[in-house]
Amino acid sequence: MKRERWGSKLGIILAVAGSAIGLGNFLRFPVQAARNGGGAFMIPYFVALFLMGIPLMWIEWTIGRFGGGFGHGTAPGIFHTLWQKNRFIKYFGVIGIFGPIVIFIYYIYIESWLLGYSFFSITGRYAGIVDKTGMVSFLRGYQGIVKNEFFSGIITAYIFFLITFALNILIVLFGIKRGIERVCRIAFPTLFILALVIMVRTFTLHSPFDISWTPYNGLGFLWNPDFCALKDARVWLAAAGQIFFTLSVGIGVILTYASYLTKNDDVLLSGLTAASTNEIAEVILGGSIVIPAAYVFFGPYGISEVAQQGAFDLGFVTMPLILKTLPVGMFFAFLWFLLLFLAGITSSISLAQPAIAFLEDEFNISKRKAVTIFAVVCFILSHISIIFLSKGAVDELDFWGGTFALVVFATVETILFAWIFGIDKAWEEMHSGSDIQIPLIYKFIIRYITPLFLLFILAFWTYQQAIPTLMLKGIPEENIPVVIFTRITLLLLFLIICFLVKKAWEKKKV
Ligand code: ALA
Repeated sequence: MKRERWGSKLGIILAVAGSAIGLGNFLRFPVQAARNGGGAFMIPYFVALFLMGIPLMWIEWTIGRFGGGFGHGTAPGIFHTLWQKNRFIKYFGVIGIFGPIVIFIYYIYIESWLLGYSFFSITGRYAGIVDKTGMVSFLRGYQGIVKNEFFSGIITAYIFFLITFALNILIVLFGIKRGIERVCRIAFPTLFILALVIMVRTFTLHSPFDISWTPYNGLGFLWNPDFCALKDARVWLAAAGQIFFTLSVGIGVILTYASYLTKNDDVLLSGLTAASTNEIAEVILGGSIVIPAAYVFFGPYGISEVAQQGAFDLGFVTMPLILKTLPVGMFFAFLWFLLLFLAGITSSISLAQPAIAFLEDEFNISKRKAVTIFAVVCFILSHISIIFLSKGAVDELDFWGGTFALVVFATVETILFAWIFGIDKAWEEMHSGSDIQIPLIYKFIIRYITPLFLLFILAFWTYQQAIPTLMLKGIPEENIPVVIFTRITLLLLFLIICFLVKKAWEKKKV
Protein backbone atom coordinates (compact mmCIF):
# COMPACT_ATOMS: atom_id res chain seq x y z
CA MET A 1 0.00 0.00 0.00
CA LYS A 2 1.35 3.45 -0.90
CA ARG A 3 2.15 5.47 2.22
CA GLU A 4 0.75 8.94 2.70
CA ARG A 5 2.94 12.05 2.44
CA TRP A 6 2.95 15.51 3.94
CA GLY A 7 1.76 18.25 1.62
CA SER A 8 4.67 20.57 2.40
CA LYS A 9 7.70 21.12 4.58
CA LEU A 10 5.89 23.81 6.53
CA GLY A 11 3.05 21.35 7.06
CA ILE A 12 5.14 18.80 8.98
CA ILE A 13 6.97 21.50 10.95
CA LEU A 14 3.63 22.93 12.07
CA ALA A 15 2.33 19.44 12.88
CA VAL A 16 5.37 18.57 15.01
CA ALA A 17 5.35 21.98 16.68
CA GLY A 18 1.60 21.53 17.20
CA SER A 19 2.24 18.19 18.84
CA ALA A 20 4.87 19.75 21.08
CA ILE A 21 2.95 22.89 22.04
CA GLY A 22 0.26 21.84 24.46
CA LEU A 23 -0.94 22.23 28.00
CA GLY A 24 2.67 21.66 29.06
CA ASN A 25 3.72 25.03 27.64
CA PHE A 26 1.04 27.18 29.20
CA LEU A 27 0.34 25.43 32.50
CA ARG A 28 3.02 22.92 33.40
CA PHE A 29 6.08 25.01 32.53
CA PRO A 30 5.37 28.15 34.62
CA VAL A 31 4.46 26.00 37.63
CA GLN A 32 7.62 23.92 37.30
CA ALA A 33 9.82 26.99 36.93
CA ALA A 34 8.21 28.84 39.85
CA ARG A 35 8.56 25.77 42.10
CA ASN A 36 12.08 24.82 41.14
CA GLY A 37 14.28 27.84 41.62
CA GLY A 38 12.68 30.41 39.28
CA GLY A 39 15.31 31.80 36.91
CA ALA A 40 17.83 29.22 38.13
CA PHE A 41 15.52 26.48 36.79
CA MET A 42 16.41 27.66 33.31
CA ILE A 43 19.98 26.38 33.76
CA PRO A 44 19.07 22.68 34.07
CA TYR A 45 16.22 23.33 31.63
CA PHE A 46 18.53 24.55 28.86
CA VAL A 47 21.15 21.91 29.69
CA ALA A 48 18.43 19.25 29.24
CA LEU A 49 17.22 20.96 26.06
CA PHE A 50 20.63 21.02 24.38
CA LEU A 51 21.97 17.70 25.61
CA MET A 52 18.80 15.64 25.45
CA GLY A 53 15.76 17.40 23.96
CA ILE A 54 17.25 18.60 20.67
CA PRO A 55 19.32 15.43 20.08
CA LEU A 56 16.20 13.31 20.69
CA MET A 57 14.22 15.52 18.33
CA TRP A 58 16.84 14.94 15.60
CA ILE A 59 17.05 11.21 16.34
CA GLU A 60 13.28 10.77 16.10
CA TRP A 61 13.01 12.74 12.87
CA THR A 62 15.88 10.75 11.37
CA ILE A 63 14.81 7.25 12.37
CA GLY A 64 11.22 8.06 11.45
CA ARG A 65 12.18 9.07 7.93
CA PHE A 66 14.52 6.05 7.70
CA GLY A 67 11.84 3.57 8.79
CA GLY A 68 9.26 5.22 6.56
CA GLY A 69 11.51 4.37 3.62
CA PHE A 70 10.92 0.70 4.47
CA GLY A 71 7.19 1.19 4.91
CA HIS A 72 7.29 1.34 8.72
CA GLY A 73 5.82 4.32 10.54
CA THR A 74 6.01 3.10 14.11
CA ALA A 75 8.70 2.04 16.52
CA PRO A 76 8.43 -1.80 16.21
CA GLY A 77 9.15 -1.66 12.48
CA ILE A 78 11.58 1.26 12.72
CA PHE A 79 13.63 -0.42 15.46
CA HIS A 80 13.63 -3.62 13.43
CA THR A 81 15.03 -1.85 10.35
CA LEU A 82 17.75 -0.29 12.51
CA TRP A 83 18.81 -3.65 13.96
CA GLN A 84 17.62 -6.33 11.58
CA LYS A 85 19.62 -9.13 13.14
CA ASN A 86 17.87 -8.85 16.48
CA ARG A 87 14.52 -10.60 16.76
CA PHE A 88 13.51 -8.93 20.00
CA ILE A 89 14.17 -5.26 19.37
CA LYS A 90 10.77 -4.78 17.75
CA TYR A 91 9.12 -5.56 21.09
CA PHE A 92 10.87 -2.56 22.67
CA GLY A 93 9.16 -0.57 19.95
CA VAL A 94 5.81 -1.56 21.44
CA ILE A 95 6.38 1.22 24.01
CA GLY A 96 6.11 3.72 21.14
CA ILE A 97 2.53 2.64 20.44
CA PHE A 98 1.51 1.86 24.01
CA GLY A 99 2.70 5.22 25.45
CA PRO A 100 0.74 7.43 23.04
CA ILE A 101 -2.46 5.39 23.56
CA VAL A 102 -2.13 5.64 27.34
CA ILE A 103 -1.55 9.40 27.22
CA PHE A 104 -4.36 9.80 24.67
CA ILE A 105 -6.97 8.18 26.92
CA TYR A 106 -6.60 10.79 29.64
CA TYR A 107 -5.34 13.76 27.62
CA ILE A 108 -8.48 13.70 25.49
CA TYR A 109 -10.72 13.89 28.54
CA ILE A 110 -8.88 16.91 29.93
CA GLU A 111 -8.93 18.45 26.46
CA SER A 112 -12.72 18.07 26.46
CA TRP A 113 -12.94 20.14 29.68
CA LEU A 114 -11.28 22.97 27.77
CA LEU A 115 -13.96 22.81 25.13
CA GLY A 116 -16.59 22.75 27.87
CA TYR A 117 -15.04 25.74 29.66
CA SER A 118 -14.78 27.71 26.39
CA PHE A 119 -18.50 27.18 26.04
CA PHE A 120 -19.21 28.11 29.68
CA SER A 121 -17.13 31.28 29.27
CA ILE A 122 -19.00 32.48 26.24
CA THR A 123 -22.37 31.64 27.82
CA GLY A 124 -21.37 33.18 31.17
CA ARG A 125 -22.13 29.98 33.08
CA TYR A 126 -19.64 30.66 35.88
CA ALA A 127 -19.81 34.48 35.68
CA GLY A 128 -21.41 34.75 39.13
CA ILE A 129 -18.64 32.87 40.96
CA VAL A 130 -16.35 35.22 42.84
CA ASP A 131 -13.85 33.08 44.68
CA LYS A 132 -11.62 30.06 44.46
CA THR A 133 -13.90 27.85 46.52
CA GLY A 134 -16.72 28.54 44.11
CA MET A 135 -14.57 27.76 41.05
CA VAL A 136 -13.27 24.55 42.62
CA SER A 137 -16.80 23.46 43.39
CA PHE A 138 -17.81 24.30 39.78
CA LEU A 139 -14.93 22.12 38.50
CA ARG A 140 -15.71 19.21 40.82
CA GLY A 141 -19.38 19.40 39.85
CA TYR A 142 -18.47 19.38 36.16
CA GLN A 143 -16.20 16.37 36.66
CA GLY A 144 -19.10 14.54 38.31
CA ILE A 145 -17.18 14.17 41.56
CA VAL A 146 -19.86 15.99 43.55
CA LYS A 147 -23.45 16.99 42.85
CA ASN A 148 -23.99 20.69 43.50
CA GLU A 149 -25.85 23.80 42.43
CA PHE A 150 -23.81 23.93 39.21
CA PHE A 151 -24.08 20.36 37.95
CA SER A 152 -26.24 17.42 38.91
CA GLY A 153 -23.98 14.79 37.33
CA ILE A 154 -21.34 14.05 34.78
CA ILE A 155 -23.59 14.28 31.74
CA THR A 156 -22.41 17.75 30.58
CA ALA A 157 -18.76 16.68 30.82
CA TYR A 158 -19.62 13.49 28.97
CA ILE A 159 -21.23 15.37 26.09
CA PHE A 160 -18.13 17.55 25.68
CA PHE A 161 -16.00 14.43 25.85
CA LEU A 162 -18.03 12.82 23.04
CA ILE A 163 -17.69 15.94 20.88
CA THR A 164 -13.93 16.19 21.49
CA PHE A 165 -13.41 12.50 20.87
CA ALA A 166 -15.40 12.61 17.62
CA LEU A 167 -13.47 15.69 16.46
CA ASN A 168 -10.13 13.96 17.02
CA ILE A 169 -11.24 10.83 15.23
CA LEU A 170 -12.59 12.83 12.30
CA ILE A 171 -9.29 14.68 11.89
CA VAL A 172 -7.17 11.52 11.87
CA LEU A 173 -9.65 9.85 9.54
CA PHE A 174 -8.99 12.55 6.96
CA GLY A 175 -5.34 11.49 7.03
CA ILE A 176 -1.96 13.12 7.24
CA LYS A 177 -2.29 15.79 4.58
CA ARG A 178 -6.01 16.49 4.48
CA GLY A 179 -6.62 15.99 8.21
CA ILE A 180 -3.65 16.59 10.52
CA GLU A 181 -1.71 19.01 8.29
CA ARG A 182 -4.75 21.06 7.38
CA VAL A 183 -5.90 21.40 11.00
CA CYS A 184 -2.42 22.35 12.21
CA ARG A 185 -2.10 24.99 9.49
CA ILE A 186 -5.20 26.70 10.86
CA ALA A 187 -4.89 25.91 14.56
CA PHE A 188 -1.25 26.80 14.90
CA PRO A 189 -1.27 30.48 13.82
CA THR A 190 -4.58 30.97 15.65
CA LEU A 191 -3.04 29.58 18.81
CA PHE A 192 -0.04 31.90 18.55
CA ILE A 193 -2.22 34.96 17.96
CA LEU A 194 -4.46 34.07 20.91
CA ALA A 195 -1.45 33.59 23.17
CA LEU A 196 -0.04 36.95 22.06
CA VAL A 197 -3.35 38.71 22.71
CA ILE A 198 -3.60 37.20 26.20
CA MET A 199 0.05 37.98 26.91
CA VAL A 200 -0.36 41.64 25.90
CA ARG A 201 -3.51 41.84 28.02
CA THR A 202 -1.60 40.37 30.96
CA PHE A 203 1.05 43.08 30.70
CA THR A 204 -1.56 45.82 30.75
CA LEU A 205 -3.21 44.52 33.93
CA HIS A 206 -3.41 46.76 36.99
CA SER A 207 -3.84 45.28 40.40
CA PRO A 208 -7.11 46.25 42.09
CA PHE A 209 -5.44 45.74 45.49
CA ASP A 210 -1.92 47.16 45.45
CA ILE A 211 -0.10 49.23 42.81
CA SER A 212 3.15 47.38 43.41
CA TRP A 213 1.57 44.10 42.29
CA THR A 214 2.48 44.63 38.66
CA PRO A 215 2.84 41.95 35.99
CA TYR A 216 6.53 42.92 35.73
CA ASN A 217 7.07 42.11 39.39
CA GLY A 218 5.28 38.84 38.59
CA LEU A 219 7.92 38.17 35.96
CA GLY A 220 10.51 38.94 38.62
CA PHE A 221 8.93 36.33 40.89
CA LEU A 222 9.16 33.76 38.12
CA TRP A 223 12.63 34.59 36.87
CA ASN A 224 14.68 35.81 39.87
CA PRO A 225 17.16 33.00 40.26
CA ASP A 226 17.48 30.96 43.42
CA PHE A 227 20.80 29.28 42.72
CA CYS A 228 20.57 27.07 45.83
CA ALA A 229 17.94 25.06 43.92
CA LEU A 230 20.66 23.80 41.58
CA LYS A 231 22.10 21.63 44.35
CA ASP A 232 18.91 19.62 44.44
CA ALA A 233 18.81 16.61 42.07
CA ARG A 234 15.03 16.85 41.94
CA VAL A 235 15.28 20.25 40.23
CA TRP A 236 17.41 18.68 37.50
CA LEU A 237 14.93 15.84 37.13
CA ALA A 238 12.03 18.26 36.98
CA ALA A 239 13.80 20.19 34.21
CA ALA A 240 14.52 17.01 32.23
CA GLY A 241 10.93 15.84 32.71
CA GLN A 242 9.62 19.16 31.44
CA ILE A 243 11.81 18.94 28.31
CA PHE A 244 10.45 15.46 27.51
CA PHE A 245 6.88 16.52 28.08
CA THR A 246 7.02 19.79 26.22
CA LEU A 247 8.90 18.61 23.14
CA SER A 248 6.81 15.41 22.89
CA VAL A 249 10.04 13.41 22.56
CA GLY A 250 10.33 9.84 23.83
CA ILE A 251 6.63 9.27 23.26
CA GLY A 252 6.74 7.74 19.80
CA VAL A 253 4.78 10.39 17.92
CA ILE A 254 7.53 12.36 16.19
CA LEU A 255 8.98 9.32 14.48
CA THR A 256 5.57 8.47 13.12
CA TYR A 257 5.10 11.97 11.73
CA ALA A 258 8.60 11.87 10.23
CA SER A 259 7.90 8.51 8.57
CA TYR A 260 5.71 10.34 6.05
CA LEU A 261 8.74 12.28 4.76
CA THR A 262 10.72 11.22 1.70
CA LYS A 263 14.39 10.32 1.68
CA ASN A 264 15.41 13.73 0.34
CA ASP A 265 13.49 15.76 2.87
CA ASP A 266 15.47 17.70 5.43
CA VAL A 267 15.17 16.57 9.03
CA LEU A 268 17.75 18.62 10.91
CA LEU A 269 16.60 22.14 10.16
CA SER A 270 12.95 21.10 10.35
CA GLY A 271 13.46 19.38 13.71
CA LEU A 272 15.33 22.38 15.05
CA THR A 273 12.66 24.76 13.80
CA ALA A 274 9.90 22.75 15.47
CA ALA A 275 11.84 22.60 18.74
CA SER A 276 12.64 26.33 18.67
CA THR A 277 9.04 27.23 17.94
CA ASN A 278 7.99 25.17 20.94
CA GLU A 279 10.57 26.91 23.13
CA ILE A 280 9.34 30.37 22.09
CA ALA A 281 5.80 29.31 22.91
CA GLU A 282 6.92 27.90 26.24
CA VAL A 283 9.49 30.30 27.65
CA ILE A 284 8.19 33.55 26.19
CA LEU A 285 4.44 33.05 25.88
CA GLY A 286 3.91 30.36 28.53
CA GLY A 287 6.16 32.18 31.00
CA SER A 288 4.39 35.49 30.50
CA ILE A 289 0.79 34.60 31.16
CA VAL A 290 -0.30 32.68 34.22
CA ILE A 291 2.32 33.70 36.77
CA PRO A 292 2.36 37.46 36.01
CA ALA A 293 -1.45 37.48 35.85
CA ALA A 294 -1.75 35.63 39.15
CA TYR A 295 0.80 37.99 40.75
CA VAL A 296 -1.33 41.01 39.90
CA PHE A 297 -4.26 39.47 41.76
CA PHE A 298 -2.63 37.59 44.59
CA GLY A 299 0.54 39.59 45.24
CA PRO A 300 3.91 38.35 46.49
CA TYR A 301 2.46 36.19 49.28
CA GLY A 302 -0.50 34.71 47.46
CA ILE A 303 1.55 33.85 44.40
CA SER A 304 3.67 31.29 46.26
CA GLU A 305 0.50 29.46 47.16
CA VAL A 306 -0.67 29.71 43.55
CA ALA A 307 2.62 28.21 42.33
CA GLN A 308 2.13 25.25 44.66
CA GLN A 309 -1.22 24.44 43.06
CA GLY A 310 -1.48 21.78 40.45
CA ALA A 311 -1.28 22.96 36.87
CA PHE A 312 -4.95 22.11 36.39
CA ASP A 313 -6.15 24.26 39.25
CA LEU A 314 -4.13 27.10 37.82
CA GLY A 315 -5.74 26.66 34.41
CA PHE A 316 -9.33 25.89 35.39
CA VAL A 317 -9.71 27.74 38.68
CA THR A 318 -7.26 30.61 39.02
CA MET A 319 -7.04 31.91 35.44
CA PRO A 320 -10.79 32.16 34.79
CA LEU A 321 -11.20 33.96 38.13
CA ILE A 322 -8.55 36.49 37.16
CA LEU A 323 -9.72 36.95 33.59
CA LYS A 324 -13.36 37.37 34.40
CA THR A 325 -12.71 40.42 36.57
CA LEU A 326 -11.52 42.34 33.48
CA PRO A 327 -13.74 44.35 31.18
CA VAL A 328 -15.18 41.83 28.71
CA GLY A 329 -13.51 39.31 30.99
CA MET A 330 -15.65 36.35 30.01
CA PHE A 331 -14.54 36.90 26.43
CA PHE A 332 -10.88 36.79 27.52
CA ALA A 333 -11.63 33.65 29.49
CA PHE A 334 -13.14 32.20 26.33
CA LEU A 335 -9.96 33.07 24.39
CA TRP A 336 -7.87 31.44 27.12
CA PHE A 337 -9.76 28.14 26.98
CA LEU A 338 -9.88 28.21 23.21
CA LEU A 339 -6.11 28.69 23.16
CA LEU A 340 -5.63 25.71 25.44
CA PHE A 341 -8.11 23.62 23.48
CA LEU A 342 -6.28 24.28 20.19
CA ALA A 343 -2.96 23.53 21.88
CA GLY A 344 -4.51 20.31 23.20
CA ILE A 345 -6.08 19.06 20.00
CA THR A 346 -2.92 19.49 17.89
CA SER A 347 -1.18 17.33 20.52
CA SER A 348 -3.88 14.67 20.88
CA ILE A 349 -4.15 13.98 17.14
CA SER A 350 -0.43 13.28 17.15
CA LEU A 351 -0.95 10.78 19.98
CA ALA A 352 -3.58 8.95 17.93
CA GLN A 353 -1.43 8.55 14.85
CA PRO A 354 1.10 5.85 15.95
CA ALA A 355 -1.52 3.18 16.69
CA ILE A 356 -3.34 3.95 13.45
CA ALA A 357 -0.12 3.94 11.41
CA PHE A 358 0.87 0.62 13.02
CA LEU A 359 -2.36 -1.07 11.93
CA GLU A 360 -2.17 0.40 8.43
CA ASP A 361 1.52 -0.34 7.84
CA GLU A 362 1.92 -3.72 9.47
CA PHE A 363 -1.47 -5.28 8.71
CA ASN A 364 -2.09 -3.56 5.40
CA ILE A 365 -5.58 -2.48 6.36
CA SER A 366 -7.37 0.64 5.18
CA LYS A 367 -7.24 3.89 7.11
CA ARG A 368 -10.96 3.71 7.78
CA LYS A 369 -10.61 0.27 9.37
CA ALA A 370 -7.51 1.26 11.36
CA VAL A 371 -9.17 4.42 12.68
CA THR A 372 -12.30 2.47 13.62
CA ILE A 373 -10.31 -0.08 15.64
CA PHE A 374 -8.35 2.71 17.33
CA ALA A 375 -11.53 4.66 18.09
CA VAL A 376 -13.36 1.69 19.63
CA VAL A 377 -10.41 0.66 21.81
CA CYS A 378 -9.63 4.20 22.98
CA PHE A 379 -13.27 5.05 23.53
CA ILE A 380 -13.61 2.13 25.93
CA LEU A 381 -10.28 2.82 27.65
CA SER A 382 -11.01 6.56 28.08
CA HIS A 383 -13.73 5.59 30.53
CA ILE A 384 -11.02 4.69 33.03
CA SER A 385 -10.18 8.42 33.18
CA ILE A 386 -13.81 9.52 33.18
CA ILE A 387 -15.16 7.13 35.79
CA PHE A 388 -12.15 6.87 38.09
CA LEU A 389 -10.85 10.43 37.88
CA SER A 390 -11.14 11.03 41.61
CA LYS A 391 -9.59 7.65 42.42
CA GLY A 392 -6.16 8.40 41.04
CA ALA A 393 -6.62 6.75 37.61
CA VAL A 394 -5.32 9.74 35.65
CA ASP A 395 -2.17 9.97 37.79
CA GLU A 396 -1.61 6.30 37.19
CA LEU A 397 -2.01 6.61 33.41
CA ASP A 398 0.23 9.66 33.42
CA PHE A 399 2.95 7.88 35.35
CA TRP A 400 3.15 4.79 33.13
CA GLY A 401 2.31 6.35 29.77
CA GLY A 402 3.53 9.89 30.24
CA THR A 403 6.60 9.46 32.42
CA PHE A 404 8.03 5.98 32.72
CA ALA A 405 7.44 4.86 29.13
CA LEU A 406 9.00 8.07 27.82
CA VAL A 407 12.31 7.66 29.58
CA VAL A 408 12.63 3.98 28.72
CA PHE A 409 11.71 4.58 25.09
CA ALA A 410 14.10 7.52 24.69
CA THR A 411 16.95 5.53 26.21
CA VAL A 412 16.36 2.56 23.90
CA GLU A 413 16.08 4.63 20.72
CA THR A 414 19.20 6.65 21.51
CA ILE A 415 21.36 3.61 22.22
CA LEU A 416 19.98 1.84 19.19
CA PHE A 417 20.69 4.79 16.93
CA ALA A 418 24.11 5.84 18.23
CA TRP A 419 25.56 2.46 19.15
CA ILE A 420 23.83 -0.34 17.24
CA PHE A 421 23.04 1.44 13.99
CA GLY A 422 26.36 3.19 14.57
CA ILE A 423 27.18 6.85 15.03
CA ASP A 424 28.91 7.25 11.63
CA LYS A 425 26.00 5.82 9.70
CA ALA A 426 23.64 7.72 11.97
CA TRP A 427 25.44 11.01 11.32
CA GLU A 428 25.33 10.41 7.57
CA GLU A 429 21.62 9.52 7.71
CA MET A 430 20.85 12.66 9.71
CA HIS A 431 22.59 14.87 7.15
CA SER A 432 21.13 13.21 4.08
CA GLY A 433 18.95 15.81 2.33
CA SER A 434 19.66 18.23 5.15
CA ASP A 435 19.51 22.00 4.76
CA ILE A 436 22.06 22.52 7.54
CA GLN A 437 25.22 20.95 8.91
CA ILE A 438 25.09 20.57 12.67
CA PRO A 439 28.21 21.22 14.79
CA LEU A 440 30.48 18.19 15.06
CA ILE A 441 30.28 18.34 18.84
CA TYR A 442 26.79 16.85 18.49
CA LYS A 443 28.30 13.64 17.18
CA PHE A 444 29.98 13.30 20.55
CA ILE A 445 26.89 14.44 22.44
CA ILE A 446 24.58 11.95 20.70
CA ARG A 447 27.04 9.13 21.17
CA TYR A 448 27.99 9.68 24.79
CA ILE A 449 26.25 12.49 26.58
CA THR A 450 22.62 11.93 25.60
CA PRO A 451 22.61 8.18 26.43
CA LEU A 452 24.46 8.78 29.70
CA PHE A 453 22.08 11.58 30.63
CA LEU A 454 19.14 9.27 29.87
CA LEU A 455 20.59 6.31 31.74
CA PHE A 456 21.15 8.53 34.73
CA ILE A 457 17.57 9.78 34.64
CA LEU A 458 16.28 6.24 34.16
CA ALA A 459 18.25 4.95 37.13
CA PHE A 460 17.28 7.87 39.31
CA TRP A 461 13.62 7.73 38.35
CA THR A 462 13.47 3.98 38.85
CA TYR A 463 14.94 4.42 42.29
CA GLN A 464 13.03 7.52 43.26
CA GLN A 465 9.63 6.94 41.63
CA ALA A 466 9.21 3.60 39.88
CA ILE A 467 9.99 1.37 42.84
CA PRO A 468 7.78 3.24 45.32
CA THR A 469 5.04 3.43 42.68
CA LEU A 470 5.30 -0.27 41.96
CA MET A 471 5.00 -0.96 45.68
CA LEU A 472 1.86 1.23 45.83
CA LYS A 473 3.64 3.63 48.21
CA GLY A 474 1.78 6.82 48.97
CA ILE A 475 -1.42 5.68 47.29
CA PRO A 476 -4.47 6.31 49.49
CA GLU A 477 -6.08 3.09 50.71
CA GLU A 478 -9.40 3.83 48.98
CA ASN A 479 -7.70 4.27 45.57
CA ILE A 480 -5.81 0.96 45.61
CA PRO A 481 -8.48 -1.16 43.83
CA VAL A 482 -8.70 1.37 40.98
CA VAL A 483 -4.92 1.66 40.74
CA ILE A 484 -4.58 -2.14 40.52
CA PHE A 485 -7.37 -2.36 37.98
CA THR A 486 -5.70 0.37 35.86
CA ARG A 487 -2.35 -1.40 36.03
CA ILE A 488 -3.81 -4.74 34.98
CA THR A 489 -5.58 -3.04 32.06
CA LEU A 490 -2.34 -1.37 30.98
CA LEU A 491 -0.43 -4.62 31.25
CA LEU A 492 -3.03 -6.34 29.08
CA LEU A 493 -2.88 -3.52 26.56
CA PHE A 494 0.89 -3.83 26.40
CA LEU A 495 0.73 -7.60 25.93
CA ILE A 496 -1.92 -7.30 23.23
CA ILE A 497 0.28 -4.89 21.25
CA CYS A 498 3.22 -7.32 21.68
CA PHE A 499 1.00 -10.09 20.35
CA LEU A 500 -0.02 -7.95 17.37
CA VAL A 501 3.63 -7.22 16.60
CA LYS A 502 4.37 -10.97 16.71
CA LYS A 503 1.44 -11.70 14.38
CA ALA A 504 2.45 -8.94 11.97
CA TRP A 505 5.95 -10.33 11.62
CA GLU A 506 4.73 -13.91 11.25
CA LYS A 507 2.53 -12.73 8.41
CA LYS A 508 5.47 -11.04 6.73
CA LYS A 509 7.47 -14.28 6.75
CA VAL A 510 4.77 -16.23 4.93
N1 ALA B 1 3.96 18.25 24.32
C1 ALA B 1 2.62 18.30 24.77
C2 ALA B 1 2.42 19.35 25.80
O1 ALA B 1 3.31 20.14 26.06
C3 ALA B 1 2.19 16.96 25.27
O2 ALA B 1 1.33 19.41 26.35
